[in-house]
Amino acid sequence: MAEEVKKRVFSGVQPTGKVTLGNYLGAIRNWTPLQEQYDCLFCVVDLHSLTVTQVPAELRKNTLDLVALYIACGLDPDKSALFIQSHVHEHAELAWILDTIAYVGELNRMTQFKDKSRKHADNINMGLMNYPVLMASDILLYQTEYVPVGKDQVQHVELTRNIAERFNARYSDTFAVPQCLLSKSGNSIKSLLEPTAKMSKSDPNDNAIITLTDSADTVRRKLRRAVTDSDTDVRCVHSSPSKPGVSNLLNIYSLCADVTVEEAEKQFEGKGYGVFKDAVADAVIAVLEPIQAEQKRLLSDKAYLENVLGQGAEKASRIAQKTLAKVYRKVGLIPRVR
Ligand code: TRP
Repeated sequence: MAEEVKKRVFSGVQPTGKVTLGNYLGAIRNWTPLQEQYDCLFCVVDLHSLTVTQVPAELRKNTLDLVALYIACGLDPDKSALFIQSHVHEHAELAWILDTIAYVGELNRMTQFKDKSRKHADNINMGLMNYPVLMASDILLYQTEYVPVGKDQVQHVELTRNIAERFNARYSDTFAVPQCLLSKSGNSIKSLLEPTAKMSKSDPNDNAIITLTDSADTVRRKLRRAVTDSDTDVRCVHSSPSKPGVSNLLNIYSLCADVTVEEAEKQFEGKGYGVFKDAVADAVIAVLEPIQAEQKRLLSDKAYLENVLGQGAEKASRIAQKTLAKVYRKVGLIPRVR
């Protein structure tokens, strides 16, 4: 009997800044179970990071840190391809072809481009504008069906669909048209200091975010300082829309302690914020510590990491080559004779 063909999943994280608890709870953690059902590729998108100014040595370190973190969070190199974007040169090559399909107008309208242009007004480079085309290339190279992302990336996946459909219409069916796979908890983790905004790894205030490398003491200190509200009831937003700070902490607690928000609410009824925040810290620390220990262990085993990355890039390359060859042929480029 023919082996059942699994549908393909692709996602990526930039090796920029520190991975936050929000990235973990909203994204990476939800990728782990997908590995059983789908043919998964998880990428460290280093080329994307170059769209904002990087210190080269830091970029190198962040890239390896993130690979180790992927594995420490439960991504299994025997089940999924784990690789670095720049190791598979087809990403950049397909991006060029897709640049001829994407319109300046639609790239100009992307929310993230507008945000980043505001934040990096001194460096609005072409790469920043082209960022979503490179992302489309990441996705389309692998005939991806599902893209697990947070809400903030939905617009980019929509653009990817439009580019795929436009290419398919012009040159005949070539790309699978991907869909977002939104996680239930996705992007619902907010800043500790401004709980109506997303917990973002580019937040200039380190106290607003919990990163996966924060020590237990740091986690506790940041949570104690987290913005709550003026009264002392531990109640989430369902019952009180004016308490985004407490709601965010309840949400973090429920995801880390694996209880529902309602259960958590009941647990802390009448307890006051001090006790509550310490319990949230305990739950977060219990999640982070084993990941940190495993990441550290992996980083001390460079040979293992290199082997994983070699294997991942090889698998990714095989698929990528096929798609790119097809694309080159369809648009009228002559294959090189060897
Ligand atoms: N733009 C994504 C982010 O910032 C990262 C990314 C790049 C990505 N290429 C991708 C995510 C392909 C999913 C699929 O989060």
